[in-house]
Amino acid sequence: MRSPSRPLAAPVVLQFKQATRAARKLADGADPGGFMFRQLEEINARPEVFEIYTAEALWADDHRAEQMLAFHLDETVDVSSRNIEFIDRSSAWITDTFRLGPGKRVCDFGCGPGLYASRLAKSGAQVTGLDFSRNSIRYAREEAERAGQKIDYVHGNYLAFDPTQRYDLIVMIMCDFCALSPVQRQQLLTIFQNCLADDGALLLDVYSMAAYSERAETSFYERNQLNGFWCEEDYYCFVNTFKYDRDAVVLDKYSIFPKSGAPQAVYNWLQYFSPESLTTELSGAGFATKQIYGDVSGRPFTEQNTEFAIVATKAT
Ligand SMILES: C[S@@+](CC[C@H](N)C(=O)[O-])C[C@H]1O[C@@H](n2cnc3c(N)ncnc32)[C@H](O)[C@@H]1O
Repeated sequence: MRSPSRPLAAPVVLQFKQATRAARKLADGADPGGFMFRQLEEINARPEVFEIYTAEALWADDHRAEQMLAFHLDETVDVSSRNIEFIDRSSAWITDTFRLGPGKRVCDFGCGPGLYASRLAKSGAQVTGLDFSRNSIRYAREEAERAGQKIDYVHGNYLAFDPTQRYDLIVMIMCDFCALSPVQRQQLLTIFQNCLADDGALLLDVYSMAAYSERAETSFYERNQLNGFWCEEDYYCFVNTFKYDRDAVVLDKYSIFPKSGAPQAVYNWLQYFSPESLTTELSGAGFATKQIYGDVSGRPFTEQNTEFAIVATKAT
């Protein structure tokens, strides 16, 4: 996900006047055990790179999945899905570039509510969309039914996908590959190898090193951060951004403290790539890079692009 790494509302500054009950106790000297200090130490602790995977808490939790769907369907913003003008242009480019049509099979990994799958299916290709958000898959199925489209929407974790058929085109769009650890990416690339037709193609987009250099380590907290995105009830959310220069990884760590529910931490990891590092990684998994683009609408690549797309085939 892109947006929660960027706050939608201005953060508040930590002030004693606004402190929670626990902090007031601390100010009164009623916290001799240093409870708040330990909590803050935990909140600000830098985990090992890709130590914890919490993608389901981000995408598939009932409350958050509803907010995510609203972001996906907001046609004007690049949050969860890109804006509608881009999706239309990108889908047309993909249909054209990969000559989609009757007889072709496409699989969209992390399809969300099917914004690409539904457009690609208009070519006559047989499309499968896969996502672990029950809410998005429900919406995608209802839309397909309404439009009279036969699209196979599968609810499940793509890291455990074991299809019986092979696809002529596999797509994974909006940099979801970046959210995975090196081990998970190897796992996914093996799944791609197993379900890609011998003459098929893989299309992925990722965040670039230019985007990595724009990120900075920050920390702030905010009441009801992201306008209530994290919980139905009131909460405080601490947002810590950590950079791991050796690995070109950024973590946005969200520590959420609801009014009455249990605290929770959500880790949004992002791996950043250069065309060389992605090509090397794909090559290690038996893929040959055919083309690098600036994005999944076929824009030319430049070093200034904050994202880029890669087309790969099975290495022969
Ligand atoms: C950034 S969104 C992109 C959605 C869609 N590709 C688009 O561009 O409109 C990432 C999607 O991947 C899904 N996702 C993330 N991790 C997943 C996993 N391990 N298995 C299945 N789906 C996953 C999320 O639910 C979400 O719908």
